[in-house]
Amino acid sequence: MREKVSIVGAGNVGSSCAMWLLGKGFADIVLVDIVEGLPQGRALDLLQCRPILRSDVCIKGSNDYADTAGSSIVVITSGVPRKPGMSREDLLLTNKNIIELVTKEVVKNSPDCIIILVTNPLDAMTQLALYVSKFPRNRVLGQSGILDTMRFKNFISEELHVSIRDISALVLGGHGDTMVPLRRACTVGGIPLTNLLPKETIDRLEQRTIRGGEEIVGLLKTGSAHYAPSAAAVQMAEAILMDKKMILPCAAYLEGEYGISGVALGVPVKLGRNGVEQIMEVELTTEEHEALVRSAESVRKQVKTMKLEEV
Ligand code: APR
Repeated sequence: MREKVSIVGAGNVGSSCAMWLLGKGFADIVLVDIVEGLPQGRALDLLQCRPILRSDVCIKGSNDYADTAGSSIVVITSGVPRKPGMSREDLLLTNKNIIELVTKEVVKNSPDCIIILVTNPLDAMTQLALYVSKFPRNRVLGQSGILDTMRFKNFISEELHVSIRDISALVLGGHGDTMVPLRRACTVGGIPLTNLLPKETIDRLEQRTIRGGEEIVGLLKTGSAHYAPSAAAVQMAEAILMDKKMILPCAAYLEGEYGISGVALGVPVKLGRNGVEQIMEVELTTEEHEALVRSAESVRKQVKTMKLEEV
């Protein structure tokens, strides 16, 4: 029997997740949304791709969480996206109410699942889902750093006119203005990026990475990025289901790693069948560490605003 991956939210990110997953073909998919007809319609449309994909996986759309029962992984994308001029933090209280409700339903129906958060503001929503689910920290994580590194890699590849495959990059911290692209850890064909580009150019590419989501929101005007965020979430699901032990930057709850405790934050983790199997600690310079602590404090402020004690 194939494993089940459920996706909550059949909007842009959720339905794109379903599309990438369908293409992979390793799990049956359930797409859930609060809007009647939306997940059913999206699922039916996707189902009809199967002859071309030569895929036998099942995909079902539903408004009933009972259909998600026994999921190995639940990807949560339900919530409101940004509009031009909004920061991810502006979504905090609206999405808090949605994620709280959704997490309770997810836990009731799939008490052993691994939850991957995609809804923004990502780090705070990951921490909220961890708190509400009462799952151990290895089973609740957030998609953020993979997307941020994807953006950074793209800009580097365009700047240097080199294959995207040769670029390795790492972005730490919260999924927002305080993220910390780690240029020291970035290589192109094994060569440090800092040997290939002047400081000013790397500064510019980092700034474009930090504002990567905003750039897309500004162009779309209604809605935010969805192809790349969903591709990143599906890479996480694949690493987990296939027990790949991939090292990927994800939002994970820190308990002393990097000298930071009690907050979900983007760090490199080893992803395998147990979810977050290890938090990898990179030695940071004083300046990098200070930037990461600033990022943690910004997430902590959002968590405080959510008043978790009242949840
Ligand atoms: N239960 C289930 N689904 C819900 C609920 C709920 N309580 N509340 C909202 N939804 C659904 C909406 O009906 C909608 O179909 O979530 C979906 C969100 O889809 P979009 O509006 O298209 O937003 P999307 O672009 O997919 O972004 C979703 O991901 O990347 C983040 O910032 C983004 O927080 C946003 C989230």
